[in-house]
Amino acid sequence: MAKERAVFFCRECGFETSRWTGQCPGCHEWNTMVEGLKPAKKSGRVHDHASERNMPSKISEVSADSEDRYSTGIGELDRVLGGGVVKGSLTLVGGDPGIGKSTLLLQMCRSLSDAGNKVLYVSGEESLKQIRMRADRIGEFSDRLMLLSETCLDNVEAIISESSCIVDGEPFIPSVIIIDSIQTVFKEDIDAAPGSVSQVRECTAAIMRFAKREAISVFIVGHVTKEGVVAGPRMLEHMVDTVLYFEGDNIASYRMLRAVKNRFGSTNEIGVFEMKNTGLCEVKNPSEYMLSGRPENESGSTVTCALEGTRPIMVEVQALVCQTNFNNPRRTAVGIDFNRITLIMAVIEKRIGIHMADYDAYVNIAGGMRINEPAIDLSVVAAVISSYRNRAIPDGTLIFGEVGLVGEVRGVGMASKRIAEAEKMGYTTCIMPKANKDAVRDTGIRCYCISNIRELVDII
Ligand code: TYD
Ligand code: MG
Repeated sequence: MAKERAVFFCRECGFETSRWTGQCPGCHEWNTMVEGLKPAKKSGRVHDHASERNMPSKISEVSADSEDRYSTGIGELDRVLGGGVVKGSLTLVGGDPGIGKSTLLLQMCRSLSDAGNKVLYVSGEESLKQIRMRADRIGEFSDRLMLLSETCLDNVEAIISESSCIVDGEPFIPSVIIIDSIQTVFKEDIDAAPGSVSQVRECTAAIMRFAKREAISVFIVGHVTKEGVVAGPRMLEHMVDTVLYFEGDNIASYRMLRAVKNRFGSTNEIGVFEMKNTGLCEVKNPSEYMLSGRPENESGSTVTCALEGTRPIMVEVQALVCQTNFNNPRRTAVGIDFNRITLIMAVIEKRIGIHMADYDAYVNIAGGMRINEPAIDLSVVAAVISSYRNRAIPDGTLIFGEVGLVGEVRGVGMASKRIAEAEKMGYTTCIMPKANKDAVRDTGIRCYCISNIRELVDII
């Protein structure tokens, strides 16, 4: 038998070399090469797949209606998946520890099994007792859901392909499998620790093969590194059909599920959940959720509408402006880019003539959301001025628009969606860019279309 040899893999792109290098020759990242062992090729095996060779087909003869989907029973999850779980698909669910990946998947298992599907939940992280304890918080479960505490992937595969698991006299062949998590499972023929690049890579490849062969939909849980990518090779994301990220912060109880890759649907959809003591609940109306608890008639508070994918979400922007006691005024930004805030302060100083250098400014997106869209700039300007003058902006006012360095208000994408969302929430006034005038139809909302931030000062 050929000897196993040590090779080095890049953690990011999976590039393989026989020598260690400081910089990956594949993706040019530094310090990403880690050692792994390449499995020995079984001697005496020649590639002879003549019997199972595929032949090219005409595109018109390929049937497209083979895309069978199961509804997960969780509307927000279905939306992100593009309308349900596709038969035989492989989905990677990434996210920080404790964000609720296992909870979400267990809840999905519950509704899938209630709908008559056989589901297998393989956990390498928790004991069966721990899963049962979590399940008890979520609710009643059907016996079509089976739990397995196993880290050896070969055993999992054997159970499925040999139909050796007999339940009530019938072999248990699941149509959906959850692997929690890919970093804890291993294949016996690979001589590396679970979670290492070679294990993660080979295990995913093996799961992919049997998912397609047996037409089983598989969900893999993947841990996220400090940088926010799934630990292990970046390749993992290329191998699977769908990559979902579950995010949110530890303080706020809402969670966002985002598709970063989806071979069966759009990546623009997000799902919003809230963690409660009975598990994750869907948030059907995120705007209402984000604006709940907003103070009435207070200065320094405005409402804007941000887009998450194609979904408009209204959020509250707060600013506090007060005289500074320092030589350098303080600027703090929570939920919004810090540099953007310093830039907006400079624009206000120059174009409106408020001497911001004498004032500390704190800007916050209430509710713990993080927004990178420039469309909220105008709302920040309004909140800062409102706090500076200590005068509240009337309730029911939506403000959005990008602010440029000369104080001009620039148009933003999907303005009509934002206005429609405000109307749905019962808002009566909207301050928006002149460039988006076309988006104003005969809505019940009074729209002020402006082209410069000085006009904003006159209106508020
Ligand atoms: P978990 O699903 O274990 O996270 P992950 O698998 O992503 O690491 O989430 C566990 C967290 O969720 C834990 O901190 C407790 C909390 N939680 C609730 O608040 N309510 C619940 O009903 C459940 C099941 C968990
Ligand atoms: Mg978990």
